Amino acid sequence: MPQDFKAFREELLSRISIVDLVSRSVPLKPKGKDWWGCCPFHNEKTASFSVNDDKGFYHCFGCGAHGGALDFEMRTRNMPFMDAIESLAQMAGMQVPQFRPVDPKAAERALGYLDIMSTAAEVYSKFLFAENGAAALEYLRRRGISDDMIRQYQIGYAPRSNPLTQKLSGKSRDALAATQLVRTGQNGSFDFFRDRIMFPITDSKGRVIAFSGRAMGDEEPKYINISETEFFHKKRTLYGLYFAKAGILKNKRAIVVEGQVDTLMMQQNGFPETVAPLGSALSSEHVQILLKLTKSVIFCFDGDDAGKKASARAVDVILPFMTSNTDVRILTLPAGSDPDDILRKSGTDRMEDLMQTATPIADYLWNLANTGFIVSTPAGRANAEKFLFARVNMVGDEVLKRHLQVAFKNMMWDNWKGKGVAKKSAAALPKIKSEAEVLSEIAETYPALAEKYFEFLSGKIIRKAGNKTDLSEADAGKFIRRLRAAEYIKSLKTELTLSDDPSQTDFLQNEIHKYEKLLEEI
Ligand code: UTP
Ligand code: MN
Repeated sequence: MPQDFKAFREELLSRISIVDLVSRSVPLKPKGKDWWGCCPFHNEKTASFSVNDDKGFYHCFGCGAHGGALDFEMRTRNMPFMDAIESLAQMAGMQVPQFRPVDPKAAERALGYLDIMSTAAEVYSKFLFAENGAAALEYLRRRGISDDMIRQYQIGYAPRSNPLTQKLSGKSRDALAATQLVRTGQNGSFDFFRDRIMFPITDSKGRVIAFSGRAMGDEEPKYINISETEFFHKKRTLYGLYFAKAGILKNKRAIVVEGQVDTLMMQQNGFPETVAPLGSALSSEHVQILLKLTKSVIFCFDGDDAGKKASARAVDVILPFMTSNTDVRILTLPAGSDPDDILRKSGTDRMEDLMQTATPIADYLWNLANTGFIVSTPAGRANAEKFLFARVNMVGDEVLKRHLQVAFKNMMWDNWKGKGVAKKSAAALPKIKSEAEVLSEIAETYPALAEKYFEFLSGKIIRKAGNKTDLSEADAGKFIRRLRAAEYIKSLKTELTLSDDPSQTDFLQNEIHKYEKLLEEI
């Protein structure tokens, strides 16, 4: 077999969870480090068949059957080797390539690339602890990143003095260009990163394959990452994974956050199982890498609009890989905060409390359907149902898919029955309660608005908490009613664009008109 076939098989097996594969045909239960079930290769009533994702093997203590994912696929489905490869590749969403012998030049390029990257990490790290890195080091300490963490992650500082251009002057221009760290312009070569805090990005084996540089202050862009290279693929790289692996196995869960500072702060403060995608969206490769290490994943994105979108997207990405063993939860952080803020302001215990409140994926989807559509109208309910079932259909595990369908049908029946054609009137707008009550309620009910008016709302709520309120109840009431009416109009309009039923369209247009008038009067 050619060398690159071996690499392909390795990549394929690194993405396939043998626990997921086996549990497609054999029900498994977790016990200790392994998953257990009844052996499919001999007749038995008590479970003596164990499966371990970490090792990638199954083993039967009854009949001695033993092997990896490929053996399992070949034996249970009676397939020849290449067919089993094909079938597993399909499960992992990979294409089986036509194999050519490995290119010795590519292997050489890889060595040169990794060598330059690790030299660069050493140079940046040296500068962080030297005189002109003092401000950068001070910045990192002020943000609460420990010196141990700085050393472990080889965080560094790129000065303006072009140290890499000097240090790497013996390397070929192509080799340097491939790393993007040294550029050549009309006036000669220069370092790409200047006056930035440098975060080396490693692959799962701990080798530096890229850098992300953060500005020292508020200047934009805040982070600059090198672009994709032959050896750095954002879709496959998770920041912090090399160190998080042990934590994920130990704590039996993975936490996914948005940024590298969040990752560092989480790992440092009692959540060693934390990783982050690199400024780009979570990919199915990321998800597969994590699900091989654990069946329990918590998405913990920032409490802003971007974070909410990222959560919804992450859910769509992970659905195809869900099985009856996976436990995926979504934690929506309070508006305006990221994990780093929460850890610094409220500490580890508060963060763990929040983790415990993370919403299981099915409830998350249900909430999304109920808040994203006006379920008080038939068209809204129809759209919510379509949204839900499109999600359920993404699930790869057929049995789980069926159970989710039943669950959502029951939830629709329980929650939506008796709702005819909505007849909301001005009177149906919420009664004004106390200012703080209403403001917190609105923050919960309309996160998007709360986001937009965050400073206003939080200011009021905080002042209220200090028992000094300067907003009259009537004004607060007006403000809230305006928000609610505006939000309702917005969702009616969305629904109008989706509706193709004329009676529904009439109803929606009337409703919009009514509320627009009301809005003027408030
Ligand atoms: P955030 O803007 O949430 O930054 O971006 P952050 O992680 O809280 O950063 P700090 O705490 O201000 O230092 C989240 C992630 O998106 C990517 C980075 O990976 C960042 O960690 N990002 C952000 C970029 O790639 N470029 C940017 O300009 C901003
Ligand atoms: Mn942050």
